Amino acid sequence: MTQDELKQAVARAAIEYVVDGEIIGVGTGSTANFFIDELGKIKDRIKGAVASSEATAERLRAHGIKVFDLNEVETMPVYIDGADEITPQGAMIKGGGAALTREKIVASVAQKFVCIADGSKLVDVLGKFPLPVEVIPMAHGVVARKLSSLGCEAKLRLKDGKPLVTDNGCYIIDAVGMQIADPAAIEDAINNIVGVVTNGLFARKGATVCLLGTADGVKKLEF
Ligand code: A5P
Repeated sequence: MTQDELKQAVARAAIEYVVDGEIIGVGTGSTANFFIDELGKIKDRIKGAVASSEATAERLRAHGIKVFDLNEVETMPVYIDGADEITPQGAMIKGGGAALTREKIVASVAQKFVCIADGSKLVDVLGKFPLPVEVIPMAHGVVARKLSSLGCEAKLRLKDGKPLVTDNGCYIIDAVGMQIADPAAIEDAINNIVGVVTNGLFARKGATVCLLGTADGVKKLEF
C-alpha cells in the first residue's frame, strides 16, 4: 500500500468516531484532508465542524459542511487530526502544516482526540521530525537564540524565500535535532519563552486514540 492509501484507510476508519447530530473538530494536513473527504459523504449526519485552519475550513465548505466559529461552541465530542510523530504513549509532534496553534486550541475543547496517521509516524522518542514553534514575528530572533540553547538548530520556516506567515499572522521556527525524552517538560519550557505563541508538542493533552495505517490493516492504539 502507498502512504496515501494508508492515510485513506485511517481516514475511513475515523468515521466510526463521528457522533451524529454533533459538531466535529477537524484537523489540518494531508491525512485530515482524506478525512474531510470521508466526512463529506456523511455530512447530513452531523451539525457541522470547527476547522483548525483556513485551508481546512475551505475544504469543509467545498463539501457542503457548515463551519462553526470556535467561539460559538462550548465543547465537542471529538477532534480528528493527523500527526507528524506519535509515541506509544500518545504524545505527538504536530504543526508540519503550520496549523499547530489552532489545532491545539480546537483539540483543547474536544472530549476526545482521535489521531489518524500512517505507520511511519509511530516513534519511540519524539524529535526526528523538526519541532514547529509558532512565534510573534518581532521576536523570532530572540526566540531562535533561546531555542538553540535548549540543544537544537532553530530554523525560521520560509516560503518562496520569505518567512512563512501562519493563519494567525505569525512565523514558524522549526527546532531541528531535538531529542525529546520528556515531552511535557520540553512543551512547558518552550511555551515559557517570551514571544512563543505555542509549540507543536501535544504532551499533556495528547491523543486519546490513534488509528495507525499499516500494511496489515488499521491498528488502534488507546491511551
Ligand atoms: C498540520 O499543522 C499538522 O499538525 C498535521 O496534522 C501534521 O503535519 C500531519 O500532516 P499529514 O497528515 O499531512 O502527514
